[in-house]
Amino acid sequence: MKRYHVTTFGCQMNAHDSERIKGLLEELGLGEAPSQDQADVIVLNTCTIREKPDTRFAAHMGNAAKQKRERPGTVVAVGGCYAEAQRERLFALYPDVDVAFGPGTISHLGAWLGAGGEGVARGAFGTGEERAFAAGLPAHRERRFQAWVQVSMGCNSVCSYCIVPAVRGRETSRRPGEVIAEVERLATEGVREVTLLGQNVNSYGRDVGSSFAELLHAVDGVAGIERIRFTSPHPKDFRRDVIAAMAECAAVCEHAHLPLQSGSSRVLKAMRRTYSRERYLRLVAELRASIPDLALTTDIIVGFPGETENDFRETLEVAEEVGFDGAFTFVYSPRAGTEAAAMPNQVSDEVKRDRIERLVAVVQRVAAERNAGRVGSVEEVLVEGPSRTEPELLRGRTRRNTTVNFSGDAAPGELVSVSIASATSTTLAGAQLALAAA
Ligand code: SAH
Ligand code: SF4
Ligand code: F3S
Repeated sequence: MKRYHVTTFGCQMNAHDSERIKGLLEELGLGEAPSQDQADVIVLNTCTIREKPDTRFAAHMGNAAKQKRERPGTVVAVGGCYAEAQRERLFALYPDVDVAFGPGTISHLGAWLGAGGEGVARGAFGTGEERAFAAGLPAHRERRFQAWVQVSMGCNSVCSYCIVPAVRGRETSRRPGEVIAEVERLATEGVREVTLLGQNVNSYGRDVGSSFAELLHAVDGVAGIERIRFTSPHPKDFRRDVIAAMAECAAVCEHAHLPLQSGSSRVLKAMRRTYSRERYLRLVAELRASIPDLALTTDIIVGFPGETENDFRETLEVAEEVGFDGAFTFVYSPRAGTEAAAMPNQVSDEVKRDRIERLVAVVQRVAAERNAGRVGSVEEVLVEGPSRTEPELLRGRTRRNTTVNFSGDAAPGELVSVSIASATSTTLAGAQLALAAA
């Protein structure tokens, strides 16, 4: 049996897409290889959000090329956002790539790999116009009890730093009936937690006569689904109906990942985020008033073109004022073809480095304080498996999405009660209570 190996770069969309790539390859009769060097078909599912993933892809591609020289006949397939961004040049830049596809053209992979015996269609690339939901493909899920559910593809925002609209295209929503049918099927397969995925989930449904609030209610109605998560909501489209749905739907978790990007209204404007510092803070207050115990996490960029020391201090202030439970912090990375990459007042690497260090220090201190506040409480934890650091402990996540390492006896997929005894900036630790929560 021929074997494949998939390496995934980037965000949850790519994690979802990789599960579909695996499902598709298994349907074609391939098995999964434990490592890239044992695979006959090497798939690299790429990201191009910043320069770093591009560099990591280049390194992986180097290994794949070496392997091809040693084992001729190995097929290298490159998919995802970097492939889409470089579609005109990919085969010239990397002559060892056999076939390539974008995030919307995964379904073609089977044909290109020679299903039907025509042999590998070298140099094939799907076009953006043929875009289809990856959700239509079979899935090989990493976890039996958790699943990604794609609700939309593409993005209609025009954030001036961001490459995503150029590579994932215009936003298109999946029909609510299709989403719900998938969630129902997942529930019968034993899935207890779903994460709804879209670049801007709050704008879901406008093109198919639905809304994100309606979708949350419908998913909440599916028996067996005990936790609903979603990512990412754009603050500009976070309306009252969605806040109300979060409060009303028992399965929707008390967590919102709400990308801030900057705390300076001036920078937010240049980023074309279409909200101000004040509006963001108002939204946070509304969310907290409606959903007690809500966890808030965020994405922040430092060193956007023209960001002054004062702008940056405003970001630090907002981070303190909101009190995020966690944050992904990024150094601005110019992306070819985006509006911000052409702005004249780029910030020096030295200043960017200084700012990211100061921001990380604040974010970690605040998150550690927030987590310390959980010590002494009892949390409902969905067990994921053994702890990554101490294998004799178990690991899982709370409804607020914090990782917990704990002593106990439970199988992956079980919901248990854990008494929290200590905390760091990113994790909690404790012991399982004798009686399971569910
Ligand atoms: N659609 C999601 C974000 C996807 S990209 C949303 O809007 O919430 C994930 C994060 O990467 C963004 O929130 C942003 O903080 C960061 N990012 C995007 N482009 C970037 C760039 N050019 N440089 C640095 N960080 C960037
Ligand atoms: Fe990028 Fe903005 Fe769309 Fe998010 S909302 S994917 S940051 S353009
Ligand atoms: Fe995700 Fe990277 Fe594409 S963050 S949408 S895989 S550019």
